[in-house]
Amino acid sequence: MTGRFYVTTPIYYVNGAPHIGHAYTSVAADVMARFHRLAGDEVFFLTGTDEHGQKVEQAAQAAGIDPKVFVDRVSADFRNMADAMAISYDDFIRTTEPRHITGAQALWQKVAESGAIYLGAYEGWYALRDECFYGEDELIDGPEGKKVAPTGAPVDWVKEPSYFFKLSAFQDKLLELYESHPEFLGPNSTKREIVSFVKQGLRDLSISRTSFKWGIPVPGDEAHVMYVWFDALANYLSALDYPNPDAPRAAFWPANLHLVGKDIARFHAIYWPAFLMAADIEVPKKIFANGWWTIEGQKMSKSLGNVVDPRDLAKEFGVDAVRFFLLREVPFGGDSDLSRKSLITRNNVELANDLGNLCQRTLSLVARNCDGIIPERRVLTESDTHLLGQVSVLPELMAAQLERCALTDALEDVWKVIRAGNAYIDHQAPWALRKTDVERMKDVLRVLLDALRGIATVLQPFMPQSMDRMLTQLGVEDGERTFAALETLIPAGRKLPAPQGIFPRYVEPTEEPS
Ligand code: MSP
Repeated sequence: MTGRFYVTTPIYYVNGAPHIGHAYTSVAADVMARFHRLAGDEVFFLTGTDEHGQKVEQAAQAAGIDPKVFVDRVSADFRNMADAMAISYDDFIRTTEPRHITGAQALWQKVAESGAIYLGAYEGWYALRDECFYGEDELIDGPEGKKVAPTGAPVDWVKEPSYFFKLSAFQDKLLELYESHPEFLGPNSTKREIVSFVKQGLRDLSISRTSFKWGIPVPGDEAHVMYVWFDALANYLSALDYPNPDAPRAAFWPANLHLVGKDIARFHAIYWPAFLMAADIEVPKKIFANGWWTIEGQKMSKSLGNVVDPRDLAKEFGVDAVRFFLLREVPFGGDSDLSRKSLITRNNVELANDLGNLCQRTLSLVARNCDGIIPERRVLTESDTHLLGQVSVLPELMAAQLERCALTDALEDVWKVIRAGNAYIDHQAPWALRKTDVERMKDVLRVLLDALRGIATVLQPFMPQSMDRMLTQLGVEDGERTFAALETLIPAGRKLPAPQGIFPRYVEPTEEPS
């Protein structure tokens, strides 16, 4: 059964440059989008930039530039990062675009019509870095005896007129949502945190500001701009041309998956469904939070000067090796550390050795012993059928893993088969069969070519560029690369191009003899 699949990344604040943390969620969402396309689904994959709010306004001021010029520049840099990391987004939304402003204002109006918005005055703590209001009881002791947000962000006492959203009225409905749709929020650690937060009681939420101007005007009261999170969350709808119900994209709602970092789970799992419930709009099907990266064991920060630009890593190691590392290193959902050493190890052991060598050995044997021509598929032995059977269940197995956002487990499933392929080639020893049984050698090589085709097909979402090269090497044409196409064998007799390595081993420059 094929269907529609709508997946989103967070929209990134343009107050700073793109880094590996941003790339991470985007790569994960990209894998989901590409996987569903290969499965035959109609996919809409959205990413973009979050360009309003006081934090961005201050960053523009600090740079001494007009906010619009500033956000244009940084947003373009985020788009460049997405392109450099091979993110196959269908749309890139910017919250300063007219279509978004229309959508956000329409959503505000719909929520207001339901009676869930009232005018009051906000007095309390605000953390600019998190663009988040915190209750007194949530603050913790920070340096110099000062109170700070639970995230460590400094807080200021804010007092200004504000519109409020009646979040308190949605406590039971939210708890019922988490209870009746256990798949709505993951991983479990995030769910536990959110559920316990909601159970403690929800305060109404301030959703407008009057102390600065860089935001979307509140409909009917231009003295206020929308709270940046109300504005930002609306992007998931405005990109579908909300409020136009006849827009072709409208059919993609409700979103299948919002992928977010764990720090912004609260906004997505509490505020967002509550706004939608108030507006009488269906809630998304799933929100999944990924963990955070540290760099060589340290928190990534501008002050430490250790912020990693994914484009630099991609230049050095190749885009696919970086994408692979990010999703392979730690079970998706958990925190992880980026170290040069482990990136190189993953590349050399799993890509260059396990997969690269298996492919290279097979292709060079075909080149040398079969004139580079794909042999026929004939009788299969039990071990042939066993290997091919393991390959053929991969699309289904991985679909189930991806359904629960277990991206790392999906890769592990493939690597089990790659390891089985290496054991198979060692055991069958086609290089020896060349002298004793040429027909059997051809059969073994054909089984390996077919197994490699299956493996490369399912790995396309993770490593699109190298799997494209690998499939070309294996003689698989463009129209033969979907999951459904795996049902049909590649015809024998095709001439393969001269074999070329797919994954070079990485050698640290200092290790080379000078
Ligand atoms: N603009 C909001 C999102 C609005 S979505 C409607 C925002 N932007 S952000 O640029 O600050 O963060 C975007 C994402 O980057 C978050 O999901 C956050 O978790 C992620 N990361 C920021 N630093 C990170 C790491 N060190 N590691 C992993 N992800 C990190 O929040």
